[in-house]
Amino acid sequence: RHPGWPARLGPLITARGAVALRPPRLRDGAAWSRIRLQDRAYLQEWEPTVVGGWQERNARMAWPAQWSALRGMARRGQALPFSITVDGDFAGQLTVGNIVRGALRSGWIGYWVASRLAGGGIATAAVALAVDHCFGAVGLHRLEATVRPENQPSVRVLEKSGFRREGLFHRYLDVAGAWRDHYVYALTIEEIPGGAVHRLIESGGASRP
Ligand code: ACO
Repeated sequence: RHPGWPARLGPLITARGAVALRPPRLRDGAAWSRIRLQDRAYLQEWEPTVVGGWQERNARMAWPAQWSALRGMARRGQALPFSITVDGDFAGQLTVGNIVRGALRSGWIGYWVASRLAGGGIATAAVALAVDHCFGAVGLHRLEATVRPENQPSVRVLEKSGFRREGLFHRYLDVAGAWRDHYVYALTIEEIPGGAVHRLIESGGASRP
């Protein structure tokens, strides 16, 4: 067993509803596929290029294999894969990946939220819940996030969450069919005394139920 997994986090109340994180379920497949097929243009711009094409990769039938891969990584302590729910319904995903322990105790964070629900503080609330969990029960010291400079909504999510821009990775990731520059953002535990949820609530971005 790995510290901090499995976990259920939240809820936090936002303008769009109650945001919570829980491990992915096999029955998330229907909503996951429906949203990802509908939101293809909105998601594809920012996500790593996939082998096999969007349609096949995000078909309902593709979920069991992805769910199982995520579960496997979580069991090995390599990742914390969460489904984001809003008022109990599947609304997106947040994953802490590449978890390294030892003297580094670090991981990266990534997320997406259904376009229908965007702009209501859901991703920011989800990130705050994940940050506090990573720096608490999971025992990490540093979180990183990479984002394309053009992805202003995601840059805002990171900045609202207290992440600092540390630099630019040149031609870093194969996204939307080309090698894209990415900003690297980071946050260490010392920078967020009192925690990310506390900070978000103080700033008026969410409240406790
Ligand atoms: N230009 C500038 N700011 C914008 C724009 C825009 N076009 N659109 C939205 N914003 C702002 C919003 O106003 C808000 O900031 P504010 O609170 O200061 O007003 C912020 O961006 C979005 O914050 P939230 O509402 O907390 O985030 P949301 O729930 O909308 O989710 C997300 C943001 C996850 C980036 C969503 O848009 C999404 O899923 N996009 C597609 C996938 C994606 O880009 N994922 C992130 C990849 S990078 C990474 O994972 C580290």
